Amino acid sequence: MRHNHTILIYQFGRKPMVIDESLLAYILQISRKMAEMRRLSPVLNYALKEAINLVGAERGYVVLVSDDGSLDFRVKLDSSGQDIEHPEDQISRSILQEVVSTGEPLVLRNAMQNERFGQADSVVVLGLRSIMAVPLISRGDTIGAIYVENRAIRNRFSQDDAVPLVVFANQAAVAIENAALNDELEARVQARTRQLEQATQRLEESWHEAVESNRVRTVWLSQIAHDLRAPLGIASGALSLLNEGVLGSINAEQREWVEKSLQSVLHAATLTEDIFDLSRLEEGQIRLHMEPVNTERFLNGVYELAQGLPWAEGVQLSLEIANSLPWATFDAVRIQQVLFNLLANAQKFTRQGSVVIRAEQQPEPDLIHISVSDTGKGIPPDRIETLFKRFRQVDDSASRHEGAGLGLAICRELVTMHHGKIWVNSEPGTGSTFTFSLPTNLPPTPMVTG
Ligand SMILES: Nc1ncnc2c1ncn2[C@@H]1O[C@H](COP(=O)(O)OP(=O)(O)OP(=O)(O)O)[C@@H](O)[C@H]1O
Ligand SMILES: [Mg+2]
Repeated sequence: MRHNHTILIYQFGRKPMVIDESLLAYILQISRKMAEMRRLSPVLNYALKEAINLVGAERGYVVLVSDDGSLDFRVKLDSSGQDIEHPEDQISRSILQEVVSTGEPLVLRNAMQNERFGQADSVVVLGLRSIMAVPLISRGDTIGAIYVENRAIRNRFSQDDAVPLVVFANQAAVAIENAALNDELEARVQARTRQLEQATQRLEESWHEAVESNRVRTVWLSQIAHDLRAPLGIASGALSLLNEGVLGSINAEQREWVEKSLQSVLHAATLTEDIFDLSRLEEGQIRLHMEPVNTERFLNGVYELAQGLPWAEGVQLSLEIANSLPWATFDAVRIQQVLFNLLANAQKFTRQGSVVIRAEQQPEPDLIHISVSDTGKGIPPDRIETLFKRFRQVDDSASRHEGAGLGLAICRELVTMHHGKIWVNSEPGTGSTFTFSLPTNLPPTPMVTG
């Protein structure tokens, strides 16, 4: 035997509604399902299908109130769940408008005979008879309406049928509003993501452009440097021969000019060599020859050679090895090149005091620091950041000194290739210390056999 209990539903400020218990249980079941759906479109579709089913209607519509107050036909279905074409021509707007503006449900048993809506064009033209429309109210606002109808049948809906639909619509409204908020949030996230993607793309494009123009410049420089090498070699060779008297004796005045020319040509050749080196480093064309090196002996060798640099009268050069150094695997030719660039700078910018080559095993295993300190003019703090970029000198063009600004850029490339770092501590007027780190446990270059 089936117990048919009825339940009273109290709504704030409204008449209580009476509803069958099993029907309420069914509505709650649908509501739970709606609440689980997160996107608006499926919620609307599901809600309408269930609404049509609940009251046995032929067709149904869900409209939502847009921000500007107009009605947005979001879903329109017939009883078999098919989409209805041209929904706006098929529905009585005046009825919908009434429900949305009053927030009250409306049941028309025979719309064509109704004194208020019987004259509405849509009602007449479409032969609308049984219509029921209930508002979707969420948090006190009417956000839309559910509208169901039967065309042929008169008296299809009774006032009682409105109760389950109203109860259902109250549940649906909350689910719809949540889903709409969720959609909006999703749309915002998507818009932000799109903006971010566009920004990233623009960044990537400009990065590619920069890389490309840098590459073009590097190739161009390398080409020029390469082409200059041979004529400079010929010129310096010929000048050396003249200078040594191999091509016949020359007088004192001629010798003076030959020597000056030779100095200039050698300077140009060094510069060319640096440009060539840096370009090839940047293009990744220079390979290191990594071999185990007795670090202390290596540094002593560098120190001996460095004594031959044209140091100023009052400058004292020394080597300090803090504790005994391990052997390390590196490219001795290239690390010597780094040290000579640092020493050449120290020589160039120090008139008085001392220049110290210092090497120290670090507390971290497999790492040594090698530095060149001077008591020279020092570097202003704001110039330190750009120092290691090519063609950068601390002084502006008015007081430029000899040199292209390539030495430190070459140092940085070479040290980085050894997985080390290079940095400077300096105080204007007091001096500078350029230090680089060198891992000692790098693998040696494999021997080519066969
Ligand atoms: N020991 C130092 N003391 C003071 N300033 C320095 C020192 N070393 C480098 N600098 C500053 O950093 C700039 C860049 O040095 P870098 O070795 O790259 O170029 P350069 O010596 O000018 O030219 P190049 O090395 O190509 O002949 C120098 O021009 C100088 O202004
Ligand atoms: Mg230099």
